[in-house]
This record gives sequence, C-alpha cells and structure tokens, in this order.
Amino acid sequence: MNFKKELNKYQEQINREMQKYLRKQEVPEKILNNSMEYSLMAGGKRLRPILVIAAYEIFKQDTKKCMPYAVAIEMVHNFSLIHDDLPGIDNDDFRHGKPTNHKKFNEATAILAGDGLLNQAYIVISEDLKDTAKEELENKIEVFNEFSISVDRMIAGEYIDTEYEGNQITDECLEYIHKNKTGALLRLCVRMGAILADANEEDLENLTKYAEKIGLAFQIKDDILSEEGNEEVLGKPVGNDKELEKCTYVSKYGLQGAKEILDKITKEAIEELKEYGEKAEFLRELAIYIKNRDK
Ligand code: IPE
Ligand code: IPE
Ligand code: MG
Ligand code: MG
Repeated sequence: MNFKKELNKYQEQINREMQKYLRKQEVPEKILNNSMEYSLMAGGKRLRPILVIAAYEIFKQDTKKCMPYAVAIEMVHNFSLIHDDLPGIDNDDFRHGKPTNHKKFNEATAILAGDGLLNQAYIVISEDLKDTAKEELENKIEVFNEFSISVDRMIAGEYIDTEYEGNQITDECLEYIHKNKTGALLRLCVRMGAILADANEEDLENLTKYAEKIGLAFQIKDDILSEEGNEEVLGKPVGNDKELEKCTYVSKYGLQGAKEILDKITKEAIEELKEYGEKAEFLRELAIYIKNRDK
C-alpha cells in the first residue's frame, strides 16, 4: 500500500465533504462564518474523520453512512483547537502556519467560532438522524450518545490540563489528562466507524484497544514535537509546553523515556489488529505514521 497516497485521498475526500456542511447563514453573521471556516479549512491532518472512515471500511465499503459523523468530529476537534489556543488556555499565536483564530479575528469572535463549530457538529448529526429511517436509527443513537459523552471527556481533560499547569502530578493524573483531552475523541472515532458498520462486540473491543493505544501515542508524540519539533513544519509553536510548565510525557519521563513509551505503545496498537489482515493495513500504517509524524 502507498500509505501517503491513501492518506491524501482521504484528506481530499474529507475536505470536499466538509464544504457541504459549513454554516451557511450569510447575513449578518458573515464574519462568524468566515472565522469558523478559517479554522476548519486551515490545513489540519484530518486524522479523526480518517479514523472514522478507515474503521468503517474494515467491515463495510459504502462510507456514505459514516460521513456526517466524520465531519462532525472534525468540527468538534477544530472547536477544541480554537479554544485551546485562546489567551486563557494555551495563549498561542500560530496554528497550521497561520495566525490562530483569535489573532486573525478577535477573542470574542474566536470564542463564538468555537461555540459555533461545536454546535454545528450537533446540527450535522441531528440532521442525519432526522433523515434516517426508524428501523436504522438504533445504532446511530448509540453513536450519538457516545459522541456527546466523548466530547464531554475532551472538555474535562482540557480543564485538568489547564488547571494543573506548573504542578507536579502523579502518573495517574498525567494519564487522565491524555486519555481525556486527546484519547477520548480518537477512541470515539474508531468506535463510531465500527458501530455504524455494525461490527460485533468482539471486533468493537479489539478496535477500541487499538484506538486507546494510538490515542495515547498521538498525545505523547504531540508532547515530543512540542519539545523538539520544527516550528515551520509543525505550523505551531515549539517550546510552549515547557513555557507553560505543562505536565507531559516529556516533562515526566524525559525525551528519551517518552520516545520509548511511544515506541512500545505503537507496537501494542498494531498488535491489536492482528486478526484483520489486509483489511487493517491502513490502520496499521496509520499507527506508524502517528509515531513518526513531524507535524
Ligand atoms: C492537535 O491535534 C491537538 C491535539 C489533540 C494534540 P492534531 O495534530 O490532530 O491537529 P490538526 O487538526 O491535524 O492540526
Ligand atoms: C490540545 O492539546 C488538546 C485539545 C485541544 C483538546 P495541546 O494543547 O497539547 O495541543 P496543541 O499542541 O496546542 O496542538
Ligand atoms: Mg493545550
Ligand atoms: Mg495547545
């Protein structure tokens, strides 16, 4: 498999889909819409929607069913990034190589653009539920419930991450932060794809374990990149975790320690997919990509 080519294909597909679901009301909220679109289309990697689709494709091919959920999670993710960059949280000026939302517009607009994206995600899902035949509603409602709970977990993780800046924390607390602020949405994505494709309990469990591992790996790598990444490639500040005295895998275990944990968890994630042969090739490659990425 040419992984990079597959990844690009997914990214382009998602960017096209995203356009369909953007907030359309023009007047008088044009600047709010522009601000939401600015962040949503700024050049994110689209890992979350890709996970939804790739997990779905292990079981079924017609991905139309999971598309609104893939779009909705990317909206929530971008809401979380806009708010994460605000002066009251991480106070960052650059993301995706561009000024952060509050720098490009202003703080009030950025707060509301985040609120808008969060709500737009729920509009996208509720429209899909409205258009679904009664006999097919059951698993979509299950997905909707998991969606809301996982978004709540992400917000809780962000809160603890912010609240504990500058403090020494226990291993459990560090794990809590990563599991919630980042892991919850990545886990959700894989589960949404699998549930929408009617995966059985055993498959769902295997994929959930994979997702939890790449979720943790993803944030450890984010911590490593915040320490030694290339700002230009990354498109966001390097050294900001240190500056804010964030509790990260790097601050707790050192750069080398964090890399060793990342390596181990990536191998374990891949191991969880052993039953799925060819069908899980992309997800295996994705775990390696998460470990090796430079942005
Ligand atoms: C960054 O996530 C924020 C974290 C949860 C660590 P991504 O690196 O997936 O963000 P984009 O959308 O690709 O920029
Ligand atoms: C962001 O975590 C997590 C969420 C937005 C939920 P970070 O603050 O570590 O991510 P970056 O480095 O700003 O992307
Ligand atoms: Mg943060
Ligand atoms: Mg941040």
